[in-house]
Amino acid sequence: MSRKSPKSYHVKSFGCQMNVYDGERMAELLDAQGLSPAKDADAADLVVLNTCHIREKAAEKVYSDIGRLVKGKGGDKPMIAVAGCVAQAEGAEIPKRARDVDIVVGPQAYHKLPDLVAKAARGENALDTDMPAASKFGALPKRAKPAPSAFLTVQEGCDKFCTYCVVPYTRGAEVSRPWDAIVDEAKALVDAGAKEITLLGQNVNAWQSEDEAGRTQRLDGLIRALDRIEGLARIRYTTSHPSDMTGELIAAHGEFEKLMPYLHLPVQSGSDPILKAMNRSHSAASYLAILDHVRQARPDIAISGDFIVGFPGESEADFDATLEIVRAAKYAHAFSFKYSPRPGTPAAEMGDEFVPAEIADERLQRLQALLNEQQLAFNRKTVGKTTQLLLERDGRKPGQKIGKSPWLQSVHVETDAPIGSLIDVDIVSAGPNSLGGAIPAKAAA
Ligand code: SAH
Ligand code: SF4
Ligand code: F3S
Repeated sequence: MSRKSPKSYHVKSFGCQMNVYDGERMAELLDAQGLSPAKDADAADLVVLNTCHIREKAAEKVYSDIGRLVKGKGGDKPMIAVAGCVAQAEGAEIPKRARDVDIVVGPQAYHKLPDLVAKAARGENALDTDMPAASKFGALPKRAKPAPSAFLTVQEGCDKFCTYCVVPYTRGAEVSRPWDAIVDEAKALVDAGAKEITLLGQNVNAWQSEDEAGRTQRLDGLIRALDRIEGLARIRYTTSHPSDMTGELIAAHGEFEKLMPYLHLPVQSGSDPILKAMNRSHSAASYLAILDHVRQARPDIAISGDFIVGFPGESEADFDATLEIVRAAKYAHAFSFKYSPRPGTPAAEMGDEFVPAEIADERLQRLQALLNEQQLAFNRKTVGKTTQLLLERDGRKPGQKIGKSPWLQSVHVETDAPIGSLIDVDIVSAGPNSLGGAIPAKAAA
């Protein structure tokens, strides 16, 4: 059955920052086709659900969302596209399970979204989960309206095959974008108003490419090149893997002022036997040694991490080792998750060793209590400092804005300075999730 071509769209992204980046690029593609952004999903002719497959809860969310979209429209349902990692993992199964889905497009094929929309409008099968050799990036429009803090994907995919993880299957093999393409995109972002760029990759520190002189460069070299871009004030990168944390990259934290003092370095567990079963190529001790080196290069650096509790076979002693590594590492921020068995991954086959849900829940609570304590302690340590904020959005109260500190903390401050400005503030209060800032008396007078 053919249907009307959509005139408006809404992209809803779940999951990691790379999905946020992909969502922005899909929006730019649809803008270039003459579609206009709708104010929300209910007002859109085309809804793109940019999905995440990392844990079961995330993956199932898309189906409840589809149900809501169809019901909310009272029979006049929007064209629905499922993009992202669920699209890659489940492909043709999706329209079988949810008949209202019109388009399925994987993370390496979304440059073809306009074609797929046209196909769906003609009533044709619109599914593309190819992982083509030629990357999608060349087919995307130039960056136009970035936020003050913009994402830039430099590396995609993963060859690490941690035994619990779907990413190597949903995003494919590790691929680095070429040097020129990244430098050009960074300049375009800065020309369009971005002040901060976060370089993204599933294993961003595995990025490698030849520069314009044919020399092999790694992430530290790329940071050096971006550091020279006038108008760019801040550089960040995420997510890093401990085994690609080179000495040069560590040294870069002491070398480049634009490189913000923040490192997201997932460890997952503090127990060596569990790390081995996870196929992580580091130990608890080698991870802590990296943190020592990074702190030598940049003493005030904020460290962030990811944790999984209840991995198959995790004993109480293994979990204690996780609490111990947290105490030693002193995190400024962290994400922690209960292990979720994912189809097709080796750990999902370790069924006889699964940790009962109540035990995993209880461990997660204990871990999160400790991590929250550390986060609050880190935040409190910044009270009394004068630091720079990048203003990113309006706060809830009139006149209030929310900006990010160099350590990626959200800071509320009353100021007339516009979004996108870099301003100095005194940190005057700290909670677990945000800080209060005030314009220094001298500057306010
Ligand atoms: N490439 C990044 C991000 C991977 S996904 C990295 O290597 O860190 C983000 C986090 O989700 C992981 O670090 C891990 O802590 C968590 N995760 C991945 N698979 C999971 C699973 N099956 N169950 C629970 N948490 C998982
Ligand atoms: Fe997943 Fe491990 Fe790759 Fe991270 S490094 S994306 S956790 S397989
Ligand atoms: Fe999720 Fe895919 Fe990112 S599974 S975490 S959206 S790479």
